[in-house]
Amino acid sequence: MSDQLQKSVMDSETIYTELMIPSYANFGGKIHGGILLSLMDKVAFICASKHSGQYCVTVAVEGVEFKQAVEVGELVTIKASIIYVGKTTMIVGMRVESFKPTDGIVRHTNSCYFTMAAKDSEGNLTTVPGIILENEVQLRRFCKGKIIRKLSLEKRELLKTAVKDQQFNELKGECQETDKCFLTN
Ligand SMILES: CC(C)(COP(=O)(O)OP(=O)(O)OC[C@H]1O[C@@H](n2cnc3c(N)ncnc32)[C@H](O)[C@@H]1OP(=O)(O)O)[C@@H](O)C(=O)NCCC(=O)NCCS
Repeated sequence: MSDQLQKSVMDSETIYTELMIPSYANFGGKIHGGILLSLMDKVAFICASKHSGQYCVTVAVEGVEFKQAVEVGELVTIKASIIYVGKTTMIVGMRVESFKPTDGIVRHTNSCYFTMAAKDSEGNLTTVPGIILENEVQLRRFCKGKIIRKLSLEKRELLKTAVKDQQFNELKGECQETDKCFLTN
């Protein structure tokens, strides 16, 4: 453990609620996924900047998956906390719930992880405080965060080597007759 500044999980825990208004809806009357993504990004920023004491930027997003549609008139609550810290980055874990005031039912719509980096006033990456883990839940989340970080970096590497750096001839080998694509010339 370093002797640098450390903060507890509670110091940056964030709970944010917003009413889903009609202008957030798509043509089907449900809330746009992009609105929810933007809300999550805002909450991740709040949580990460509280922990780091710096402006933060979004580095990567893991596990975003919309399990259920959110409707106009519902109250969306995002509960966020720092689950893992690296040298200059933090993973913010978020649980998104939607509450319909007229039936009192709370639905879990999504859980995900945003990696946020702290930047100083010159825009350079800067070291973040360590995290004090005060119970088993926080320790479990930290360990999970470590795995998420590892997978995130592996995915970045894989995308680079398996997709970006591949020659067209190698990529073409991936296409199967059963794929639903139609070459016109
Ligand atoms: C993301 C960014 C900081 C990475 O910079 P880099 O020079 O490639 O940095 P490194 O590879 O040395 O990694 C720096 C940190 O980012 C983490 N990181 C980089 N890519 C990552 C990824 N795909 N997933 C998770 N973490 C990642 C590294 O693990 C490292 O964390 P640590 O310091 O806590 O150990 C840089 O590309 C950046 O500033 N991007 C712009 C982000 C931004 O402006 N977002 C706003 C959205 S528009």
